[in-house]
Amino acid sequence: MLPASRGSRPPQRPASRSCSASLSEIMDLSSDTKRKPRCVSKVVMLALLAAMCVVMLTQPPCHRRQPPTPTLFSIHERGITHVLVTGGAGYIGSHAALRLLKDSFRVTIVDNLSRGNIGAIKALQNLFPEPGRLQFIQADLGDPEAVNRIFAENAFDAVMHFAAVAYVGESTLEPLRYYHNITANTLLVLEAMATHNVKTLIYSSTCATYGEPEKMPITEETPQFPINPYGKAKKMAEDIILDFSKSKKSDMAVMILRYFNVIGSDPEGRLGEAPRPELREHGHISGACFDAALGIIPGLKVKGTDYETPDGTCVRDYIDVTDLVDAHVKALNKAQRGRVGIYNVGTGKGRSVKEFVDACKKATGVDIKVDYFPRRAGDYAEVYSDPAKINRELNWTAQRTDLHESLRVAWTWQKAHRSGYEPPQAMIL
Ligand SMILES: NC(=O)c1ccc[n+]([C@@H]2O[C@H](COP(=O)([O-])OP(=O)(O)OC[C@H]3O[C@@H](n4cnc5c(N)ncnc54)[C@H](O)[C@@H]3O)[C@@H](O)[C@H]2O)c1
Repeated sequence: MLPASRGSRPPQRPASRSCSASLSEIMDLSSDTKRKPRCVSKVVMLALLAAMCVVMLTQPPCHRRQPPTPTLFSIHERGITHVLVTGGAGYIGSHAALRLLKDSFRVTIVDNLSRGNIGAIKALQNLFPEPGRLQFIQADLGDPEAVNRIFAENAFDAVMHFAAVAYVGESTLEPLRYYHNITANTLLVLEAMATHNVKTLIYSSTCATYGEPEKMPITEETPQFPINPYGKAKKMAEDIILDFSKSKKSDMAVMILRYFNVIGSDPEGRLGEAPRPELREHGHISGACFDAALGIIPGLKVKGTDYETPDGTCVRDYIDVTDLVDAHVKALNKAQRGRVGIYNVGTGKGRSVKEFVDACKKATGVDIKVDYFPRRAGDYAEVYSDPAKINRELNWTAQRTDLHESLRVAWTWQKAHRSGYEPPQAMIL
């Protein structure tokens, strides 16, 4: 059968040709001199096909990662500062992203959503939908490959590193998690910055790095002796940053901001503080006040009424989140290559827990039930900042120092978002 059909008509083409079949066919055809004129064009075509096969075979396999298509986020654009905001789905990071976007920065948020809210990202995306303003990347900063890829694929000018687990009590229960998440992840971010030549870092640190200083107010010169894994992990991260910034190779602009107790939310009600329900037990005093006012918890537990303070309850320095993010923008604008700035960010004024609770009752209009308990181990009587250095060097002063007003603003958001950023139906389901 096969020889007869070969003599009467040209061989049938197989449905799908392999490269070797094409090559043998070329050889068969070129040896048949009688059919030469008709076959010339076929020879040329098949030679081209063969060449294409060779080219395809020498290309990298198609499953390999193709270089990403350039975007507005992957190029440095003159006059536009592109800031990577880690932890931008969280409370402070989302407020910082909002302020940066309002000030015409280009923003990339990286967050693993372990504690932040996709609702905060959506709120920001709705406010700034234009191309090249805001992108969100869900990734874990503990994953070196992911971190490196993010830096390789984006043209950052600066990093604001907020991402962290951030509860003192939880840190004593899960210390290793804290050292990993805070210290080791900061090292990864720093390495990626070094590799990809990103020269400006604004780092979120905390007054917890000071521990229990004997003298108040706390200045930047106050010795740092943190007393819990959270404070220690942040202090270690600071040390790593400082050592790197001292090395000749780095030439980085570094600003380390040590925040005191952050309260409040966006005055225009676009963002708020919405920790996961399971984290409430570790949460901040403002969250507990609002939960009590909303009836989510029966009341407030104030621990310790016999401290050496004017009314016997602990004294803290409460800084409004709007003022705090303003300090970040000022720090970013004043950051200088090869220089490190370390600043306390607080009001300079201590407020007692009793004062705070009274302000919260007034702001919510709810007569929150308060129960008093003995002191909690590890709590210190008074902590408040001396903000003279940041006033002087960055021209920053806390503007929103009325506790009642900060709490009123935050309460407005809380009332309108009883289930946080989740849609209200989520409560029913
Ligand atoms: N809230 C305060 O009173 C206060 C005081 C001092 C310092 N700080 C510091 O400010 C920063 C922000 O705190 P916050 O109150 O907004 O906390 P938050 O929990 O609301 O936000 C932290 C964000 O980081 C993200 N995150 C955590 N680990 C991550 C990881 N491995 N990879 C990617 N994303 C990760 C979380 O999902 C969350 O969105 C923290 O560094 C914290 O230590 C906060």
